[in-house]
Amino acid sequence: MRVEVYIFNAVKGLILKVPVIRNLFVKIESYIFDIFKIFDLRRYIGRSSKNTNEQNEKLILNFKKFYERNYSDDKIDAIIKYSEERIRSAWRGHHYFALWLVKELQPLTIVDLGVDRGFSTFIFGAQNIGKVYGIDWFKKYSFLGETIDDYIPTMRNKRKMEKKFRITNITIIKSKFSEVAKKWNKNIDILHIDGAHSYKDANEDYQTWRKFLNENSVILFHDTNIYEGVIRFFGELDLPKYNFTHSFGLGVVSKNKELISKIKEIWDIRPQ
Ligand SMILES: C[S@@+](CC[C@H](N)C(=O)[O-])C[C@H]1O[C@@H](n2cnc3c(N)ncnc32)[C@H](O)[C@@H]1O
Repeated sequence: MRVEVYIFNAVKGLILKVPVIRNLFVKIESYIFDIFKIFDLRRYIGRSSKNTNEQNEKLILNFKKFYERNYSDDKIDAIIKYSEERIRSAWRGHHYFALWLVKELQPLTIVDLGVDRGFSTFIFGAQNIGKVYGIDWFKKYSFLGETIDDYIPTMRNKRKMEKKFRITNITIIKSKFSEVAKKWNKNIDILHIDGAHSYKDANEDYQTWRKFLNENSVILFHDTNIYEGVIRFFGELDLPKYNFTHSFGLGVVSKNKELISKIKEIWDIRPQ
């Protein structure tokens, strides 16, 4: 065995076998991962989304101005600011519409499939309307090849949101989506699908959860402007729908035609 391989294996063994060192390592790696993710997302917005970075920022600014003109309130503004500054997420930019949707529908139950660090989940819960269930298995792969439990930083964010803004309607469930669905027994008014992004995954999540929806429920798909699988699946759905193209895309689907028309009427804002 070459000496560098021997040293690498010895260090890896030490990190993995001693719990204190392992936990410290995971913590450091998690922070490094967050920093890289922020840079990566910035790069990604320009390169891979069908919008350029500049188009994207213009659209977000438009929604921001529109929201602030019509619906602004100090507590919500503070929650938006706090989440934008502290939680990295490709979802940034969809919060204005999501806040409006929750106010408009007055849902009893919202299910967020894909929590990560909680950005979308906290925005759904920000107005304390109904109950929000964020589901995620919180699995991530370390560069040592180990599965890392990514639950702790999200729960830390949740506690901060609860304490600072009195958001009390959020439950985080650590599990595989399909496992939770097996025992699920509530009607869902808003279902947000933002897990893995292949055609197969989008289809599976939709088929698994659609039985809990009613005639007025809204399904949101994130990434309808970036991942081919999600774009195709959303495109094939034969239901009233609307697609936001900014922040990687947010597809909105509902059997309620009037609601989709209303969304188009209010939210189809072009940058000036
Ligand atoms: C794109 S992230 C969600 C982003 C989040 N909505 C936000 O606002 O930043 C997708 C998440 O889905 C989770 N995920 C993917 N497939 C899953 C599955 N089958 N069951 C549970 N969690 C899953 C991943 O662990 C990951 O954290």
